[in-house]
Amino acid sequence: MTDQPLHRVRADEYESPGDRLERSLEEGQVLLFEPGRLPLPNEQDLAFLRDEVGRLLSLKNISYHPHGDFISGLKNEGDAGERVRRILREYGERVEGFLGHLLPGFTSGWSPRKINFRPVQEKGRVIKRHSNNELLHVDAFPAGATHGWRPLRFFTNINPEEARIWRVAEEFGELYRQFGGAAGIAPPPRLRQGLAERAWTGSLRALSALNLPQLEVVGDTSPYDRAMRRMHNWMKDSDEFQNAPGRGTELAFDPYHSWCVLTDQVSHAALAGQHALVATFYVRPEACHLPERSPWGVLEAAGRAA
Ligand SMILES: [Fe+2]
Repeated sequence: MTDQPLHRVRADEYESPGDRLERSLEEGQVLLFEPGRLPLPNEQDLAFLRDEVGRLLSLKNISYHPHGDFISGLKNEGDAGERVRRILREYGERVEGFLGHLLPGFTSGWSPRKINFRPVQEKGRVIKRHSNNELLHVDAFPAGATHGWRPLRFFTNINPEEARIWRVAEEFGELYRQFGGAAGIAPPPRLRQGLAERAWTGSLRALSALNLPQLEVVGDTSPYDRAMRRMHNWMKDSDEFQNAPGRGTELAFDPYHSWCVLTDQVSHAALAGQHALVATFYVRPEACHLPERSPWGVLEAAGRAA
C-alpha cells in the first residue's frame, strides 16, 4: 500500500488516461471519481431502489447477471423485478463504457460479471462472519473460480445523505509475507490445475456458453482460488488481525461519488453506509502492468522460492 491509498482522478486524467490509472490500481490505490462524471440512474429510479427494493430482498444482495440477463436476490419479481433488472443492466453498461475510456488496457478482453445493489446498512449487520463486509478481507468468493483473473470492482454511493465508510489496509503481498503461514498457504500450493480439475472447469465453461451461467458460478474451483479463500477466511476469523491498533486507513465516500479498486489485492472493509451500486469485472492477468504485485504473482514467486 502506498502512503496515500486514495487517488482522486484529475481532470487531465479523464482527458487522456493512458495506462496511468491502471498502474495506480495495481499499486494498490483506490480510484475516486467525483459526482457528475458517470451518468447515474434518474431520480425516480434511485428513489425506487432506496425506498422500495430493500423490502423485497431475499439474499444478502440483489444481483444482475449480464451473461444470462437475469436477477437474483429478490423475493417476488414481477414488475419490480423487471424494473430492477433494467436499472442494474443500464448502470452496468454505463460503467463499462466509462471504464472502457479510463482503463482501456484492462477492459479489452475482460469479463463483466455481475451488478449488485446493496440496500442494507453495513454497520451492525447480523451476518455470518465469512460474509461480513465489516471485517477486513481480500475478495475471494465462496463459489466460482477466477483462475487468476482479477476482480475489479466499481462502486457508487447512491445514498443522498450518508457517506459510505471503508477501511483499507495491507495489500496481498504484505499480507502473504506476514500471515501466509498462519493462513495455511505458505509455502503456496501449485497454482496450475491438475488435469481432472481442468476438464471439469472446461465442461462448466462449455455449459455456460450454452447460457447456463449458474453452473459456472456454483461448481468451479482451482488451487489458486482455494488459496485466496483461505486467506480471506483467516483474515475474517482472526480478532487479533482485525483489531490490531493502527491497522489501515479509513476512507469516506460521500453521496454520489464512485470509486474502484482491485479487491483481490487491496484489503478492505465496509464499515458503514447504505445503498450502493457495485459492478464487478474480471480483468485478464495478461493485461496487468505489475503482475508481480497481483496475488497470483505473489504466490507464484513464493512457490519458486520455496
Ligand atoms: Fe470485499
